[in-house]
Amino acid sequence: KIKACIFDLDGVIVDTAVYHYQAWKRLANQLGFDFTEHDNEQLKGVSRVRSLEIILAIGGVTKAEAEREELATLKNTWYVDMIGKMTPDEILPGAKEFLIACRDAGLKTALGSASKNSMMILDKVGITDLFDAIVDGNKVSAAKPDPEVFIKGAAELGVEPSECVVFEDAIAGVEAGKNGGMKVVGIGQPEVLTKADIVLTGLDKMTLDLLDTL
Ligand code: G6P
Ligand code: MG
Repeated sequence: KIKACIFDLDGVIVDTAVYHYQAWKRLANQLGFDFTEHDNEQLKGVSRVRSLEIILAIGGVTKAEAEREELATLKNTWYVDMIGKMTPDEILPGAKEFLIACRDAGLKTALGSASKNSMMILDKVGITDLFDAIVDGNKVSAAKPDPEVFIKGAAELGVEPSECVVFEDAIAGVEAGKNGGMKVVGIGQPEVLTKADIVLTGLDKMTLDLLDTL
């Protein structure tokens, strides 16, 4: 019996990928190479530090650890400037409605995100109080596909992993949910999220009835 839903943030609740992309592109351009929207797909669900490593590899650029840290911080200041202007109308279709439906049905809700900026985003779009637990990049040490973020979410909610459904748009995130022994609803394309139990185009297609069929 499903007792809880655990949601990824970027790409499931809000579309912040575009802001990550603009900030990384600005950084790449400053370093003298381009970074395309296609390249950006590789960064979904990936931590800030690992994202920078991937971008430097794309540009064929090598930087020492201290400078990598400075570059990641610079990107983050640009990113934070953009998400600081987010408004509630940037919540993806159906996300808020499904969160409310879960809580009305007595299901627990948690956030399970790799982002260290998740509190600010939730605050800006006005849905912080729809989560019973928030586990983000500040609380975890192992990145998806390691299940740590979702296992911690289940623990904070006081439920077993087998009683949880995870909602994820990234391949690594779907794998993290499955590695944690949870049901996973992929948000995106079935050809990409092959390990998910079901794949939907968005939370606007999700219903409470679907939960118990997983
Ligand atoms: C999410 C996004 C990634 C991002 C990561 C870290 O997983 O999908 O694109 O790199 O969070 O975000 P942060 O806000 O901590 O830089
Ligand atoms: Mg995501």
